[in-house]
Amino acid sequence: MHHKKPPFIAGNWKMHMTIPEARALVSAVVKASPGLAEAEIVLIPPFTALAEAARLLLDSPVQLGAQNLFYEDKGAYTGEIAGPMLADAGCRYVLVGHSERRQYFSETDASINKKVLAAFRAGLKPIVCIGETFEEREDGRTISRIESQLRHGLVGVTAEAFADIVLAYEPVWAIGTGKTATAAQAEEVQARIRDNLAENYGKEAAACAIILYGGSVKPANSYSLLREKNIDGFLVGGASLEADSFIQITKEAIKAYKEKQ
Ligand code: 13P
Repeated sequence: MHHKKPPFIAGNWKMHMTIPEARALVSAVVKASPGLAEAEIVLIPPFTALAEAARLLLDSPVQLGAQNLFYEDKGAYTGEIAGPMLADAGCRYVLVGHSERRQYFSETDASINKKVLAAFRAGLKPIVCIGETFEEREDGRTISRIESQLRHGLVGVTAEAFADIVLAYEPVWAIGTGKTATAAQAEEVQARIRDNLAENYGKEAAACAIILYGGSVKPANSYSLLREKNIDGFLVGGASLEADSFIQITKEAIKAYKEKQ
């Protein structure tokens, strides 16, 4: 059984990368991976590049994830992709509830919950994304929004199943904007997330949980963010599209993780 460990660095490529581009990026990360063995790395390409990425990642410690799945396992759902298809394509992880899916594709906590359960049925580990908008933060509703996303998004997830979930705190106002949350802002919310997990799944599960930060993570802020107690890794968007910056983020994270032990 493969156990997820910190620092956990995932690269969400979003709607970027042709197959030849994906090949180059995956190959560069694989080449660097012996020097990054202390981190757990997950690459999350678009669906069209999954098969090629899986081929290049055979026998590599670098893991593969997908950006979305549908909540039914098969059927007449034109344009959708099911969990078993992703597992078959070589994925071990799947993003669920990314804020861009919530914003542009009307995903709700209820549909996200169904997707989390569908991921489990397919043997995939969900990376569940939560985070407040700028307005919610301004109104002092950050924590209530996060707690509501956790409560409604994880209905029916047992403490045992929870061990297979990775959480990603991505403040919506920090995504793709260059406005990274300060380390203190991210830590404040992530500490509250861990407290919430302790209430719902027990102290031990909460202590072992992997809670990622996402939103304008760059090589220059990786170290200071990861030094925070409750930041176990990153979900990187833009900076994961270049091998050099993704590798540098991972190196800084490894250094910070060692120092905070
Ligand atoms: P950026 O790193 O581009 O801000 O994206 C963050 C994100 O949404 C990762 O899922």
